[in-house]
Amino acid sequence: MNILVTGGAGFIGSHLCDALLSQGHAVVVVDNFITGSPENLTHLQGAPTFHCVRHDVVEPLPDLPFSSVDAVFHLASPASPEGYGRYPLETLMTNAVGTHRVLELASRFHAKFLLASTSEVYGDPLIHPQTEDYWGNVNPVGPRSCYDEGKRFAEALTTNYARQKDLDARIVRIFNTYGPRNQPEDGRVIPNFLTRALLGEPIPVYGDGRQSRSFCFVSDLVEGLLRAMFYPNTRGEIINLGNPAEITVAEVARRAKALTKSSSSIVYQPARPEEIARRKPEITKAQHLLDWRPTVGFDEGIQKTAQWLKSKLAQRRSAQSHPSN
Ligand SMILES: NC(=O)c1ccc[n+]([C@@H]2O[C@H](COP(=O)([O-])OP(=O)(O)OC[C@H]3O[C@@H](n4cnc5c(N)ncnc54)[C@H](O)[C@@H]3O)[C@@H](O)[C@H]2O)c1
Repeated sequence: MNILVTGGAGFIGSHLCDALLSQGHAVVVVDNFITGSPENLTHLQGAPTFHCVRHDVVEPLPDLPFSSVDAVFHLASPASPEGYGRYPLETLMTNAVGTHRVLELASRFHAKFLLASTSEVYGDPLIHPQTEDYWGNVNPVGPRSCYDEGKRFAEALTTNYARQKDLDARIVRIFNTYGPRNQPEDGRVIPNFLTRALLGEPIPVYGDGRQSRSFCFVSDLVEGLLRAMFYPNTRGEIINLGNPAEITVAEVARRAKALTKSSSSIVYQPARPEEIARRKPEITKAQHLLDWRPTVGFDEGIQKTAQWLKSKLAQRRSAQSHPSN
């Protein structure tokens, strides 16, 4: 198949490209590198069925190196609090105007379409765990609104393209995902704690640390995305993907410190505004429709992530000490 991946130079998108190419598909990435990096795709450059186009999806889409497109994974959007905090308007416009442009392209080619949405559409949830039929508890003008409401609009747009234009679309609500290619300065809990631990710096826990999260390793998530796109009976569906194993943020800090054998201290800081208390996906639907469940345990996942961050930090140190290289 000819497959378009928007946001393919990002953390999840680059792993998705690896999986698609290994299955024999031709892949074109459209990415403006606002939060992603061409470095995530360096190993794919030169592959005859891989192309990367630097482009902002808010602008009219360029001609693609395909005469037709069979499937579109729409991942383009800043995703970490650090990312959308720095680029709030870009986040809103990417999810609104950018999603519109990508949906138009998918419609034109009668392509299958997958929107990478987020558990943030549930906001600070009043039900636990979160099921797909929960409408959420979102502050439309709060500090996360550019992302939460941007994704909610992208969901509404996708749903109405499916209804009015008969687009073969599905929406996946991704819960916290981590793994190699998380950036050290990404700001999300696991890369942030592991980076601090590896550098021997204090590990900051906001609030009392009893807030819970559920973390999915990236290879599990990518398998779920592939199934959500290509399995039968997924057209028109909204599917949670995430690991339902719940863990407190304080426990993540302890395990990050222990697994890296770090001397870092764990430092409690004031809670951030509108910190989410609990987050856990209900994944019964993914189990039934996709026969999917996460397979990588937390300790195994964070070991792999720590190894990757360690080599990334070493590369940076070496580049700083040999600036001409
Ligand atoms: N990682 C998670 O835990 C998580 C959780 C929920 C949802 N998601 C969703 O999954 C998708 C990928 O997330 P990620 O963690 O890989 O984030 P990421 O920031 O690493 O990747 C997003 C990519 O989109 C690109 N992008 C952003 N705006 C763009 C634009 N206007 N035009 C072209 N490219 C643009 C960025 O440069 C980046 O490469 C996002 O849509 C995100 O909302 C991720």
